[in-house]
Amino acid sequence: MSPWWRHAVIYQVYVRSFADSDGDGIGDLAGVRSRLPYLRDLGVDALWLNPFYPSPQADAGYDVADYRDVDPRFGTLAEAEALIADAHAYGLRLIFDLVPNHTSDEHPWFRAALAAPPGSRERARYLFRDGRGSLPPNNWASAFGGRAWSQVADGQWYLHLFAPQQPDLDWTNDEVRAEFRSILRFWFDRGVDGFRIDVAHGLAKDPAMTDLGAGQATSGPAVEGHPHWDLDEVHDVYRDWRRISDGYPGDRTFVGEVWVADPARLARYLRPDELHTAFNFTFLLAPWNAKALREAIDESIRAMTAVGAPATWVLSNHDVVRHVTRYGGGATGARRARAAALLMLSLPGGAYVYQGEELGLPEVTDLPAELRQDPTFFRTQGADPGRDGCRVPLPWSGTAPPYGFGPGKAWLPQPPSWSELTVDRQTGDPASMVSLYREALRHRAALPALTEGPMTWLPTAADVLAFERAPGFFCVVNAGEHPAAPPAAVRGARLLLASDPLGSDGTLPPDTAAWYLE
Ligand code: GLC
Repeated sequence: MSPWWRHAVIYQVYVRSFADSDGDGIGDLAGVRSRLPYLRDLGVDALWLNPFYPSPQADAGYDVADYRDVDPRFGTLAEAEALIADAHAYGLRLIFDLVPNHTSDEHPWFRAALAAPPGSRERARYLFRDGRGSLPPNNWASAFGGRAWSQVADGQWYLHLFAPQQPDLDWTNDEVRAEFRSILRFWFDRGVDGFRIDVAHGLAKDPAMTDLGAGQATSGPAVEGHPHWDLDEVHDVYRDWRRISDGYPGDRTFVGEVWVADPARLARYLRPDELHTAFNFTFLLAPWNAKALREAIDESIRAMTAVGAPATWVLSNHDVVRHVTRYGGGATGARRARAAALLMLSLPGGAYVYQGEELGLPEVTDLPAELRQDPTFFRTQGADPGRDGCRVPLPWSGTAPPYGFGPGKAWLPQPPSWSELTVDRQTGDPASMVSLYREALRHRAALPALTEGPMTWLPTAADVLAFERAPGFFCVVNAGEHPAAPPAAVRGARLLLASDPLGSDGTLPPDTAAWYLE
């Protein structure tokens, strides 16, 4: 049996928006614990939790002040340990989020760096530099808008590729490397099954800190030759970490958040002695179009196979517009999202489900400015609405906000239309999104064809995707505007599941996917 992470379905829990146990309007670990039965019944294999460590929350927890504890908003260390035990008792693995590119500006190391003089050991853990006259050391930009440098009282500048409250660490520094080895061990010793590595392509920087050239952006997938994304030196860090994870029993795993444009560059992070898997943003970014999806699938599988890594598939996360909305919104977006779920969950390798996609939640696009919290919104003066719209708390039950999210008012308002989308409302309705996910995951767990083995494309019309997975499984997706008959090879097979009703003659209406078994 191959290790679990090669074909797992991993559910992303955005802790602050999942379930609130204490009524402060912010989700917490006790909330996650209370909803483990829901996740088990949904049929996922593992959970990835976004950061819950002590943090001033300048970037929703991606500004970590203490890597070995839990923020009081989210619980306690004992609560995290109880969550690990409970999840394991339910047969669910747990992946935590590791943020190695930067700390919070309230991390003791950064406070010490500010108190210490230029050239000190304390400053050497970060990237402090002298400016060019009154200008910053170079033209690097923050991924959240504005420049990537802030000046401190004595005139030096420090680098922050994200918010000023997220100073970048210097990964050539031995103390930094030793500290993260120790953090990994801290959580592995407590039974954590793996880590999602935040900004995994960002740790190494061009030592000369050359200016960004024309066409070299900070946001968006990195292209080759960039001075701070995807440098070769970053791979040493992962080789080091792999030796640590391999030293633990039970197939511990790393999944990298690696935003690079070229799947072949991505695959370099997944060589046998580096990370185990990475998010497939090529697939996520592909539009709802058979040709684009097919190319993304082929390219990904080709690149991963070359290094012996499994592919992964993802449609949404806490940083991007929810795919119901990306695929056109409204009834069309929801239909396409249903079809996309069947496509994703039958491709070879692992898959990620972002909380709420199993309910068909759309992006919330009309959040009032005064309630928004994403630094992207503020640093671009609202030109970029930011990521709050995909982070709105989950609707569980009832007909009015906060829809069972917790006893108090949720930290972001949920739209009135979500009364139709609660877990309770959808459970037991065979036509609902959550029923589709449950059914798909149940079949996936039971069918030997739906693990890691290869896929074979079947000939189809241009806007239809059809493939076979041995033994005897077929998936057909009609991404076009007209009804389509399944290819001949599928016709003798039994219909297992369809994202929407098929025609009486078995044709697939537009934006429909179906699974068949021989
Ligand atoms: C990653 C996270 C994102 C965060 C950023 C900085 O992209 O997914 O939410 O803002 O890193 O840590």
